[in-house]
Amino acid sequence: MAKPWTVEDSAKLYNVEGWSLKYFDINAEGNLIVHPRRTADLSIDVKKVVDDVIARGIRLPVLFRFQDILRHRVTLLNESFRKAIEDHKYKGRYYGVYPIKVNQLCEVVEEILDAGQPYQYGLEAGSKGELLAVLAMNGPESLTILNGYKDESMMRLALLGVKLGKKVIVVIEKPSEIPLLLKASRDMGVRPLIGLRSKLQTQGTGRWKYSSGHSSKFGLTSPELLAAVETLAAAGMLDCVKLLHFHIGSQISDIQIIKDAVKEGARVYAKLRKKKLDIEYLDCGGGLGVDYDGTHTAVDSSTNYTPREYVSGIVYSIKEVCKQEKVPEPNIVTESGRSIVAHHSLMVVDAVGIIESGAAPIELAQTDKEAEPVTEMRETLQDLNPKNLAESYHDAVQRREEAFSMFKLGYLELEDKAKVENLFWRICMEIDKHLPKAKYISEDILDMLKTVRSQYLCNFSVFQSLPDSWAIGQLFPIMPLHRLAEEPNQRAALVDITCDSDGKIVQFAGHRKTGGALPLHPLRPGEPYYLGFFLMGAYQATMGDIHNLFGRLNEVHVFEDKDEPGGYYLEEVVHGQKVKDVLTSVQYLDAELIKMMKDQIENLVKAGTIKPREGVEYLDQYEAAMEHYTYIDRNAMRVPDEAPAPAPAPPAPAKAA
Ligand SMILES: Cc1ncc(COP(=O)(O)O)c(C=O)c1O
Repeated sequence: MAKPWTVEDSAKLYNVEGWSLKYFDINAEGNLIVHPRRTADLSIDVKKVVDDVIARGIRLPVLFRFQDILRHRVTLLNESFRKAIEDHKYKGRYYGVYPIKVNQLCEVVEEILDAGQPYQYGLEAGSKGELLAVLAMNGPESLTILNGYKDESMMRLALLGVKLGKKVIVVIEKPSEIPLLLKASRDMGVRPLIGLRSKLQTQGTGRWKYSSGHSSKFGLTSPELLAAVETLAAAGMLDCVKLLHFHIGSQISDIQIIKDAVKEGARVYAKLRKKKLDIEYLDCGGGLGVDYDGTHTAVDSSTNYTPREYVSGIVYSIKEVCKQEKVPEPNIVTESGRSIVAHHSLMVVDAVGIIESGAAPIELAQTDKEAEPVTEMRETLQDLNPKNLAESYHDAVQRREEAFSMFKLGYLELEDKAKVENLFWRICMEIDKHLPKAKYISEDILDMLKTVRSQYLCNFSVFQSLPDSWAIGQLFPIMPLHRLAEEPNQRAALVDITCDSDGKIVQFAGHRKTGGALPLHPLRPGEPYYLGFFLMGAYQATMGDIHNLFGRLNEVHVFEDKDEPGGYYLEEVVHGQKVKDVLTSVQYLDAELIKMMKDQIENLVKAGTIKPREGVEYLDQYEAAMEHYTYIDRNAMRVPDEAPAPAPAPPAPAKAA
């Protein structure tokens, strides 16, 4: 007899240990829990938080922010550097900065700054808007780094920061920025703090590999770097160069590439130091990856190293180069974004329905006289086992093609063609069942399986909440938040509620054994089914768009507190956009739309088509919908149990004049 399913089986199936960095786990009740500070004694049952939030009238989808995780990530990175610096007897210090483009939300940045205060953890900006935000928020003790393309007004803003006593370092991305900075500096009578971004030869990996190397958008090549030094020397500004910067891309999956880049960057630093540039900081940019699929490998959605290894690799590599070159060890700067913010936010959506696969075969009983392709298909089905999945699938495809050709030429009856198709889909579904025992699953089988899957309709928009999934095929861990003591025996893809066939997720982290599908439970009538989308904190929040006019989500900030029931309290609820907000963002003013509707309704009342009372009701209904959340109201989807009301009578035919 098969062993009963356990929560440990679910943890293994969804590879929770692989991707969660011990922030998430499953409790004995089968609910997902969060350990905001990674201590086993403190846990919050996420299903209960969701129930609590819904009871307070907040509707799904909701983005939960576990602010304690955010703080923990900041502390961990800074402490890791402190420890590595101590272990390697490194002479410089660590001054991290958080690049706000990774998640600009004010509450996120405030929390990061607060947690980073003991370490003088600073901020990085890459645009005028970001610069205005960080200038106001960052203090004088920590670094403010200005990257990205700049115009003169940005240079002036940066220099304003210097005048106010802040350490704002302007990183030169291209040669033409130098005269702009020098002019602004002369006009304002303030000496700038200058960084030079070096275009390294070491190339990153994966999706952002062109952030470095010859064709990169940013940075100075070696000749440009030397020319910049000459220009600055001629202007008497060489002593203003305080920082050397490089960034080889985000989500670097291979530690070896990080070490190579750091060694190359450190070598450039050392050579510039020997040219009498008093550079104090070596800025290694971003790139510390997140293990989204939990495989600990060098594939795009994973990393073959831990954050601790990353930190140690940087400190050691710089030290080695400085020793060889006999130059002072610089203070180390990194601009980690993804690794700081990814884990703290979790999107919860409800599955509101299932779209069954169109491939479900209907029964067509066996008869005495059947055409050869039908008999052969039956044999293939009979002989199918976990060891011959690919062979059986290829046979089935071939037989179906042959049957189709015979039908076109008039050699096969419609009944036999129907049987062949029926058997083909049955074989596909049997292959699906055998997958867990199969040693190898070929790509064409994985493709085929996408066509036989059910699709769970989920109340969210891929375009608003998971732009990286849609745009670059990024994987995120996704799993149910409850019923995890029960075997998830369905295999599905997820579709969103936008009217766009791209609004779906068909690839899931670590589910090759399930044919790339997501294992889920069957929906129970009248019961919610909550799915969690994890590691959503980096880049997703502000890159999403309002495709189909689905707006920003409701957000809830959760803090752990062991004295509170459930071990948490909800600090803040940031309400998502209403329908009228998203309409306004595309230039429809709600007041104007209401006025237009009012005029039309009044005309119908005047014409006697509708009664005045009806007119008032219709307008109220229209106006009220402007205040709605942009997502589906699950309660308003429930079909009432009572007998359906009679359909309204069709309009009377118009009388001939
Ligand atoms: C200059 C710069 N610094 C830092 C980052 C943040 O990188 P990550 O999120 O990989 O830490 C980026 C993002 O690509 C960047 O362009």
